[in-house]
Amino acid sequence: MKKLATINSLRAWRAEAGNAKVGFVPTMGAMHAGHLALLEQSCRENAFTLVSIFVNPTQFNDPKDCSSYPNTLGNDLELCREAGVDAVFHPQYGDLYPDGFAYRVEEVERSSVLEGAMRPGHFQGVLTVVLKLLVLACPGRAYFGEKDWQQLQLVRGMAEAFFLDTEIIGVPTVRDADGLALSSRNVRLSPKARTLAPEFYRVLSTAIDCAMARAELESLGFIVEYVDQRDGRRLGAVRLEGVRLIDNVAVD
Ligand code: PAF
Repeated sequence: MKKLATINSLRAWRAEAGNAKVGFVPTMGAMHAGHLALLEQSCRENAFTLVSIFVNPTQFNDPKDCSSYPNTLGNDLELCREAGVDAVFHPQYGDLYPDGFAYRVEEVERSSVLEGAMRPGHFQGVLTVVLKLLVLACPGRAYFGEKDWQQLQLVRGMAEAFFLDTEIIGVPTVRDADGLALSSRNVRLSPKARTLAPEFYRVLSTAIDCAMARAELESLGFIVEYVDQRDGRRLGAVRLEGVRLIDNVAVD
């Protein structure tokens, strides 16, 4: 597995791959079985798989959240190697943002609701870094988890809007046996909060409507940021002892 630290080394690796199908999995590291599902699908479906590990500061509206983001680089690289990944791109901020984030991608219709309303500027940061990475990696396919449903839809929209030659693939959410969606933030849950956390998924899946879901979650002790329903999906964000969890389920 190649470790690529610079833009030039990524370009050279990509040139060598030539016309072979390249699958791309962008990550912020702190990998878990949810990431593994993306890596494995990409390795199955493409001749080469490239992974990026970059904690993107421009998508964090709270700088403390960015600086405390778990760093498990050694373990991440091991996981990638075991999954059969061919190359890992691990750039520094200055490599990806030579413009200091002066140039940004903005979506003006669907990015200001739900996650966008709670985390102003978040999707500008996500879309900007994803566009940079897709332009550099030129993958045939790029893989995103369905847990970040709104992100997935916005990235798909951006790929269409800018005529990118990359198919955006959504991969189903991986859950613990009790239903909790895997997330890099789950390690921050206290044992008590971890016991309560699966109720989030249960309530999202079973409540008759969004108002009932909100009321039930609040009565259980969750701080509810939103529960909303759009395009056949019920989406929610909650806080539990300060840890932010998001999830979504299909609804009829
Ligand atoms: O979903 C993530 O981990 C991030 O938002 C992404 C797509 C890697 C961009 O930084």
